[in-house]
Amino acid sequence: MNMWLEYFQNAEIHGIDYIPNTVPEGAIFHQVDCEDEQAIMSFATENNQWDILIDDGGHTMLQQQLAFKHLWKTVKPGMFYVIEDLHTSFLPYLSRCNKENLPTTYEMLMALKMEQNLKMNLSRASLLKKLKMKLHQ
Ligand SMILES: C[S@@+](CC[C@H](N)C(=O)[O-])C[C@H]1O[C@@H](n2cnc3c(N)ncnc32)[C@H](O)[C@@H]1O
Repeated sequence: MNMWLEYFQNAEIHGIDYIPNTVPEGAIFHQVDCEDEQAIMSFATENNQWDILIDDGGHTMLQQQLAFKHLWKTVKPGMFYVIEDLHTSFLPYLSRCNKENLPTTYEMLMALKMEQNLKMNLSRASLLKKLKMKLHQ
């Protein structure tokens, strides 16, 4: 956070942590446990206009996925949501051993990407079908 404060000197920088007052001077602190879905949801309701949101929390599958589920939509359209240390999806003690038995965050993101591609291909296919029908009229 010190780096962001130094780099973006005109920005308003907020930090979330479950341990009280863990952000440096100059940043605005929010105490939220990212394993508590209700707490993240109420944070998301009150704070929902981010330009850049960086998840550099506990890096567990649960935290990454709960945060993504509720905070993704708090980022302004066209702006940035970054998950640091996504490689934890490949660390057995953080991924395969999660007690909630979640897919890894990497798998979740790949599934979202596939779903998006499928939607695009379906809409392309239907466009193509309409075009062919028009050409044969
Ligand atoms: C890698 S440090 C990053 C700290 C901060 N992003 C920075 O750059 O200075 C991870 C932080 O996640 C916090 N953390 C761990 N579990 C958390 C949870 N369940 N909810 C919120 N924060 C958590 C830790 O207290 C720790 O400060």
